[in-house]
Order: sequence, then structure tokens, then C-alpha cells
Amino acid sequence: MALERLCNKPCAGRFSDLVAAIGNTPLVELPTLSPKEGVRIWAKLEGTNPTGSVKDRVARALIEDAEERGALARGQRIIEPTSGNTGIALAMICARKGYELTVVMPENVTAERRQLLQMYGAKVIFSEGAKGSNGAVEKALELAAQDSSWYMPYQYGNKANPAAHYNGTAVEILEALEEVSAFVAGLGTGGTLMGCGRRLKEAFGEAVKIVAAEPMPGEPVQGLRSLDEGFIPPIIDLSLLDRKIFVRNADAIRFTRRLLEREGLFAGPSSGAVARVAVRIAEELDEGNVVFLVADGGWKYLSSGIYTRPLEELSDIDATVWW
Ligand SMILES: Cc1ncc(COP(=O)(O)O)c(C=O)c1O
Repeated sequence: MALERLCNKPCAGRFSDLVAAIGNTPLVELPTLSPKEGVRIWAKLEGTNPTGSVKDRVARALIEDAEERGALARGQRIIEPTSGNTGIALAMICARKGYELTVVMPENVTAERRQLLQMYGAKVIFSEGAKGSNGAVEKALELAAQDSSWYMPYQYGNKANPAAHYNGTAVEILEALEEVSAFVAGLGTGGTLMGCGRRLKEAFGEAVKIVAAEPMPGEPVQGLRSLDEGFIPPIIDLSLLDRKIFVRNADAIRFTRRLLEREGLFAGPSSGAVARVAVRIAEELDEGNVVFLVADGGWKYLSSGIYTRPLEELSDIDATVWW
């Protein structure tokens, strides 16, 4: 088989500091996932960002946007509700820039997440675990309303969130591929789908389908939300989504394992859910490129056992501790 020469940026440049090194993530073809010859599946590997997730892009955009608007003065306190990745990314960036950060998150997130936040120097306030990420949003809004010395970036309603993808993630995809038939991502705040969706539609019009992977209601996948559960983040414009496809928790785990076993890709469980949907969309196409977003690596989820335990045992994993 002839080896195809791919556009490669081996060390992705030279940067003045870690915050400047965010983005420029690899786009990697996953041939074993492709259901037919003419359809190619590509993964955008966001786990290679400095704190290990796509949210580095968003956290940088949220802080820099607030600084530019004069909404944030040096030394001010920042508070944000997050189930993990945004908090971790904000914690690194706030520590670099000299802001004190408090993160509100559900009490039942994995130990790795708490440790990462503490490592980067953030303070953590816990919200009721059973209320998931909606409970964290509620509590953070309440606290911010009581004390004006707190600035809340609020990624769910802040245009800087989709803008990070419109000006970053999507541009990188367009630099790497001349055609995209479908873009698939998970839906948390909706920032990835809105920002990438808008830019890819501008480039390819209706020829590109923007597809959301949603957890089945009542079957949480960490990092993702179902729009049917009541809260639609204000940054979401539903008309940009061509489709949303539900994924069962068990399928998300199965595909997370498939990525690891067949492609060597150690991704978090939301990427398993997204990969499941990418393959479904690829099956419906005759040719073209399907791009899906790998929001983070598997490191923070190791303690859940999803990478090592026999698949048939995994049905007894308590899904509620994943938020
Ligand atoms: C692991 C993981 N996957 C996917 C997403 C969804 O991304 P977005 O918030 O851009 O919709 C998030 C964000 O919350 C996440 O943490």
C-alpha cells in the first residue's frame, strides 16, 4: 500500500508561553472506523492541548475577550460553573495571568478532576451531585449575583466560546481538508458545534452536515448534555444543527474502547459517543470526509475502569458519577 504523504507540522511551531501554544491540534485519519473505501473518517485530537482538552481554546478566548472589553481587571476574582475541562483550562490560564479562580462543580466528579483543579491552584465549591452540571450552573449564578467582585465568564452564554472554534478549530480543519461532508461533535455548551458549524457552513454551504452527539436522556456521558433535559444554553442556535443523534452510555464506552484497541487512540468517553455517531453518518454517505472532535484524552477517566474492565462488566458502572 502506497503511503500517502500528509501535511505534517512536527512540532507545531515555537511559542512565547503555554497559553500561546493552545490549538493547532492534529487531524488524524482513523481508517479502521471507515465503513467504505470512499468515506474517510478524521479525528481532531484536542487532547494535545496544554491542559489536555478542547476547553483550553475556550478558556483562553473567555479571558482574553473579557480583558479586551475591560470587564476584567488584573487581580479580580473569577467564578465559573463547569463539570471539569473548562475549569481545568481556566485554572491554568488564570494562574498564568494572575487571577484567582473559583470553580463550581457537581460533588460526584472523578478524583482526577478535583486533583487537577487543586494542582493548578483553583478553589472548588461543590454543587449537589444529583443535579449534574445544571446544578453547578444554578449555584454559580446565585453566588455571582450576591457578590459583584466576582466575574463570571459563563461559557454557556458567552459568544467568545463559539468564537474560539469559529476562529480556531474550524479554520484548522479547513486548512487540512478541501472537502468536509459532515462534522460531528458532542454537545455540552454547544460552543464546538456552533463555532465550527457556522464556519464550515460558510465554506461548504448545505453540502456539510453539522451533527450533534447527545447522550440518551437519563444516561449521562461525562461532558455532554441532552437538549431534551430542559436547559438549552443561550449560545445554541438550533437551526445550525442538521441532526442530533442519541447515543447510549454503553455504546459510548464500546466506541471509546474501539478507538483504543483499533487505533491506539486513548480518548475520553464523550469521544466514544461522538465516534459512534461519526461512523453512523459515514455509513450513510457514498464518499467524502467525516470529521469528528475528540474533546479530551482518557487520563481523567482512568479510575472509572472503562479502559481495563471486561466490557460485559461495565454495565454496572454508576453513570451518575461521570458528571
Ligand atoms: C469531555 C467533553 N466532551 C465534549 C464537550 C462538549 O463541548 P461543548 O461545550 O463545546 O459543546 C465537553 C464540554 O463541556 C467536554 O468536557
